[in-house]
Amino acid sequence: MTIKEIFDSMSYGPAPESNAEAMAWLEQHGRRFGHWIDGRFTAPEAVFETRNPATGAVLAEVSQGSSETVDQAVAAAARAFPKWSRTPGHERAKVLYALARLVQKHARLLAVLETMDNGKPIRESRDIDLPLVARHFYYHAGLAQLMAAEQPGMQPLGVCGQVIPWNFPLLMLAWKIAPALAAGNTVVLKPAEYTPLTALLFAELSREAGLPKGVLNIVTGDGETGAALVAHPGVAKVAFTGSTEVGKRIRQATAGQGKALTLELGGKSPYIVFDDADLDSAVEGLVDAIWFNQGQVCCAGSRLLVQEGIAERFHAKLKRRMDGLRIGDPLDKAIDIGAIVDPIQLRTISAMVDASEGEVYRAATPLPQGCFYPPTLITGLSPAAPLMQEEIFGPVLVSMTFRTPAEAVELANNTRFGLAASVWSENINLALDIAPKLRAGVVWVNGTNMFDAAAGFGGVRESGYGREGGWEGLAAYLKPAAKPRPLKAIPAIPAPRDPQVSGLDRTAKLYIGGKQARPDGGQSRAIWSPKGRLLGHIGLSNRKDLRNAVEAAHAAKSWSRSTAHSRAQILYYIAENLSARATEFAARLQEMTGKPGTSEVEASINRLFTYAAWADKYEGAAKPVPMRGLALALHEPVGVIGILCPDEAPLLGLISLMAPAIAMGNRVVLAASEPFPLAASDFYQVLETSDLPGGVVNILTGAHADLAKPMAGHADIDAVWSFGPTSPALIEHESAGNLKRVWAPGTAVDWAAEPDARSYLAQSTSVKTIWMPYGE
Ligand code: NAI
Repeated sequence: MTIKEIFDSMSYGPAPESNAEAMAWLEQHGRRFGHWIDGRFTAPEAVFETRNPATGAVLAEVSQGSSETVDQAVAAAARAFPKWSRTPGHERAKVLYALARLVQKHARLLAVLETMDNGKPIRESRDIDLPLVARHFYYHAGLAQLMAAEQPGMQPLGVCGQVIPWNFPLLMLAWKIAPALAAGNTVVLKPAEYTPLTALLFAELSREAGLPKGVLNIVTGDGETGAALVAHPGVAKVAFTGSTEVGKRIRQATAGQGKALTLELGGKSPYIVFDDADLDSAVEGLVDAIWFNQGQVCCAGSRLLVQEGIAERFHAKLKRRMDGLRIGDPLDKAIDIGAIVDPIQLRTISAMVDASEGEVYRAATPLPQGCFYPPTLITGLSPAAPLMQEEIFGPVLVSMTFRTPAEAVELANNTRFGLAASVWSENINLALDIAPKLRAGVVWVNGTNMFDAAAGFGGVRESGYGREGGWEGLAAYLKPAAKPRPLKAIPAIPAPRDPQVSGLDRTAKLYIGGKQARPDGGQSRAIWSPKGRLLGHIGLSNRKDLRNAVEAAHAAKSWSRSTAHSRAQILYYIAENLSARATEFAARLQEMTGKPGTSEVEASINRLFTYAAWADKYEGAAKPVPMRGLALALHEPVGVIGILCPDEAPLLGLISLMAPAIAMGNRVVLAASEPFPLAASDFYQVLETSDLPGGVVNILTGAHADLAKPMAGHADIDAVWSFGPTSPALIEHESAGNLKRVWAPGTAVDWAAEPDARSYLAQSTSVKTIWMPYGE
């Protein structure tokens, strides 16, 4: 092209970034890598190739980790744990600070290597991924420094098994290892098979940062290696980012192993443009939302919802912008769109688009040969169409229109995912009315794809659970220092040989939707006192009763929108009404369990006060993110929580779980203690007189063995807490269906002791991060 032609077309000339330093690093290792275990590279084993997707060239061979490799790495991490976990926070902070500085000092090399291995434009790896990686280590150096003072009584978990995807290889590594190391854990991390190189380079750099050997181990390999790592008995915590399908498999594979688990999974995030939005900004935002990293972003704004009146104009502007996007050599600094990570992913994207019935617009921009896919817009799909529901994970945007704000919310939430959402409107009232209604872990107002180490990131529903970033992210790597005690099952009192039956028959009912209900199966069970007296009968609930209770809980959704002040008032009122009947409840507990009940009733009243107090004091935060904006961390209720109540304290246990849940705005379905259910059935009479809206608390009685499985598997329950004798393995396994949150410690709780209220409140909420413009 002549200079005149360039001036005429105004097209960019190539501006390639040099790959010399990255190639030299690869050559220095003979382009063959073992794993990084115990502070050094192992000899390469069972190698496979990793390629540059833009050129197809083989970059290096890396090793396929076997289960023996995983054993070695976990053993190294376990050896390093005692010392690292006791290393003072300041010393850990210094290492994390050194890592941040090393990332900055080697930013160019890391960015180029990332782009070569992944195919993302160098502009992105250089200006987005690397600065965010460094920021993550800086921020977590600070958390390590402050941890002892700010998180008293907490300790690290042990060896963390971390599995990450290929879309942000180094950034995901940073998100995983920075909080783990800051908290004093040790790590075995498996990078994705397409993109292992920057993790290996980082491991090498970590030695320079003074990270003791064995604290960080990198095992390369595919899904089998990942599966061996997450199932390893030496791993105390699993953290995974990747597809929802694999997330579900990991939930099942780790069920009952007593491991902490966080999952950051897929999404189909809505990008909502109202007719009063600044359309040019919204178009620019959309370029970042869906064409950043070729759309291979878990929180990509892949579902455009645009208000009907402006749809045509908006689509026209968008197409014009799409046509101007430059696709090509990712190492070229003038390129907007790089390569798709691997031909397999390219085939998946093509097949999904080809199977679609919508109207497909592909950007008119020239498409180079190889692993590239053009920016694509698909319109004319129904809300239920596969491309409207499934993650494409490519540069493909689907679009549909809406008429009213209410319809926008309904369409936005019409998905099994709940990772992120963007709202565009110049009307602050509208934007801030919509943001809380969106079922998503992250909401950007007039922005998109903003991330920061201080702001929690993570999803709800099938986008997973747990947060990365902020104090909330650190919490996922800590546990209370107290030693757990084993839980002992308490059998029901059997029917005596010589029963004493006197007085009127008393049959307690179930409590569903604010009404007493007969059990569907028409079955009941006698409850005997230890002295052989018939105390009454309780209904045996079945699946149908559970279904009705869940429906009632859903119908009571306005509770989640009620003010914290009014929830507090109702909790106080419940306490007041329980207090009025304290003697009666104490007597009931005594006749059921044979133990004095007065202190349990007093503690129950106290507990109701505690959570009434907390209802309006479990505060969120405003995160000082390094840009013109604020990230608000708000505590949202989880939704409908199924609770299997404990037997050790039939009334106090129930109240200790119910109270924080409803204080935070959840609705609950309680399965009362199986051997001692009468305190629960008496308690609904207290609820009935306490202004609690029907359906907020539903109480079932009967066998936990009949209720636990359908509860853990129910698609409309958002979390299950299990404090009875049901095995956590069953609950965790069944929960994989809709990826509900599970809290099943499997250990005894001293219900009479003052609770660590914050841990109950954390289980009752998820953090929603709302990014909004603020300040200059
Ligand atoms: P994937 O979920 O299979 O892979 C992510 C990581 O998990 C990789 O390191 C992989 O080796 C590992 N892995 C695979 N099976 C495993 C198992 N059973 N146990 C433990 N670890 C396992 O994702 P994949 O196949 O690379 O991409 C497929 C689709 O997943 C994409 O098209 C996209 O829709 C979605 N995806 C979503 C991501 C997100 O951040 N939400 C990231 C990557 C993929």
